[in-house]
Amino acid sequence: MNRVILVTGGAGYIGSHVCKALAQAGAVPICYDTLEKGHDWAVKWGPLERGDVGDAARLDDVCRRHRPTGVIHLAGYIEVGESVRQPERYLHNNAVKTDVLIAAALRHGIEAFVFSSTCAVYGIPQTDLLSETHRIAPISPYAESKARVEGALTAAAGRGLRAASLRYFNAAGADADGEIGEAHDPETHLLPLAADAALGLGPPLTLLGTDYPTPDGSCIRDFVHVTDLAQAHLKALAWLAATANAGVHEVFNLGSGAGYSVRQAIAETARSAGAAVPHEIGPRRAGDPPKLVGDITKAQRDLGWRPARELAVQIEDTLRWRRAMPRRR
Ligand SMILES: NC(=O)c1ccc[n+]([C@@H]2O[C@H](COP(=O)([O-])OP(=O)(O)OC[C@H]3O[C@@H](n4cnc5c(N)ncnc54)[C@H](O)[C@@H]3O)[C@@H](O)[C@H]2O)c1
Repeated sequence: MNRVILVTGGAGYIGSHVCKALAQAGAVPICYDTLEKGHDWAVKWGPLERGDVGDAARLDDVCRRHRPTGVIHLAGYIEVGESVRQPERYLHNNAVKTDVLIAAALRHGIEAFVFSSTCAVYGIPQTDLLSETHRIAPISPYAESKARVEGALTAAAGRGLRAASLRYFNAAGADADGEIGEAHDPETHLLPLAADAALGLGPPLTLLGTDYPTPDGSCIRDFVHVTDLAQAHLKALAWLAATANAGVHEVFNLGSGAGYSVRQAIAETARSAGAAVPHEIGPRRAGDPPKLVGDITKAQRDLGWRPARELAVQIEDTLRWRRAMPRRR
């Protein structure tokens, strides 16, 4: 792939893995990030252009100098709980600013636009397995911001943009070479918190609810390895390049297609670490459905994407990364 791709949020967790995958495929990733949440140590596979997705003049400058043919848009705020407390801040950063990026993409003749959406757009599942045809009913400002961007991309497809929204389930794991991994502050995701607890690098894990209608009472989630996720972005770019439609916006679920409970993930972390995961039982978190598992048939069929790295690999990689990652003192 001999192309220049603008990767917004490329200094973040998933974005840095996307940049590595692009570089390995022969493309040049231009990391466009404020570094508000990302890390300069995670930018290793192309230039860093510090900038905000809502800054049209800066985007014009970067697009004129690098001439990207595609955009992968991962930049955004990611904490559901924080979005409930600060809805306007989330809608502004994630949705309003993305309108500026979409306008820039149209202005600069970008051929393909890939967007990081989320399974949270489905809200409370009405079916056992979530497919892309499930109704869209976000229950948090975070999910609402993602649904709004999907709507904006459908409108932009009418003006000739070729776009794909990738609805991730739970991104997990870390780079197999140990170069990059998840480093959020605060960290709210299960696997790094469980790993830190097992390794004595963090406090005991709080298990949020054990009275769900699931076999072991804890929530069931669909964990997908970040390296598999990154590959899906390359597949989406190729799919968009191959489509005959002048303007298009398609959505794809990206998960593993299998569900594991929080208790199963804790048990697997303990097995892999060779140490117990200290944890305490807390109350349910508002808005957490008992089960979120994706039907990934569409991505498999249309993109030719196959997630290969199962939960045990995700946990091994997480443990290796959490032992070695740069931490604030
Ligand atoms: N982590 C998951 O499990 C998950 C699940 C579903 C969807 N997503 C989506 O995937 C994307 C990446 O998630 P992540 O876990 O890598 O998050 P992250 O916080 O590690 O990375 C996001 C990056 O975006 C940057 N950023 C934020 N606002 C910006 C702006 N206005 N302009 C430029 N840069 C900005 C941050 O500095 C950060 O580097 C997000 O859009 C998130 O909503 C993540």
